[in-house]
Amino acid sequence: MNRKPVLFLILTCGLVMTVFAQQKRPFDAVMKDVNATFGGLKKNLDSSAMPAAVTDAEKLQSLFKEAEDFWTPFKTKDAIDFAKGAQSASQAIAAAAREGNGQKAQAAYGSIGKYCKGCHDSHRELMPDKTFKIKP
Ligand code: HEC
Repeated sequence: MNRKPVLFLILTCGLVMTVFAQQKRPFDAVMKDVNATFGGLKKNLDSSAMPAAVTDAEKLQSLFKEAEDFWTPFKTKDAIDFAKGAQSASQAIAAAAREGNGQKAQAAYGSIGKYCKGCHDSHRELMPDKTFKIKP
C-alpha cells in the first residue's frame, strides 16, 4: 500500500489547523462568550452545581486570557490589568467550587464585576447604532 497520500493528508490537516489556531477571533465574539459563560456560572453557583461551576470558571479564566492577549499588543495597561484581575478571580471561583465552598465561590464571583465595568468604562464605546466599539 502507498502511504504517501495519507501522510500528505495528515500534514496538510495539521498545517490548516495551525493557521486557524493562530487566527484571532474578533473581540466582541470573545465578549459574547464571556457574557454567556458568566451568566451560566452564576446559575450553576446558585444551584450548587459545583462541577459545572468549575468548568464555567475555568472557561472564563481562559477567555480572559484571550482578552489579555488581545490587549497586550496595544500596551493598554489598565485593560491588561482588568483582564488579569478577572483571570485571578475566575481561578479563585474554580478553586472554591472544586472544594465545594459555595460561599467563597460566590464572593469571588462578586469580585469580577468591577473588572467588567472598569474595562468597559474606559475601553468600550457605545455607537449611535447601539453597537460597541473598542477604544484602546
Ligand atoms: C479587558 C477589558 C474588558 C473586560 C475585563 C471585560 N470586557 Fe466586555 N467588552 C470590552 C470591550 C472593549 C467591548 C467592546 C467590544 C466590541 O464590541 O468590539 C466589550 C463588550 C462586551 C459586551 C458586548 C458584546 C457585543 O458586541 O454584543 C458584553 C456583553 C460584555 N463586554 C460583557 C462583559 C462581561 C460580563 C465582563 C466581565 C465578566 C466583561 N465584559 C469584561 C472589554 C472588556
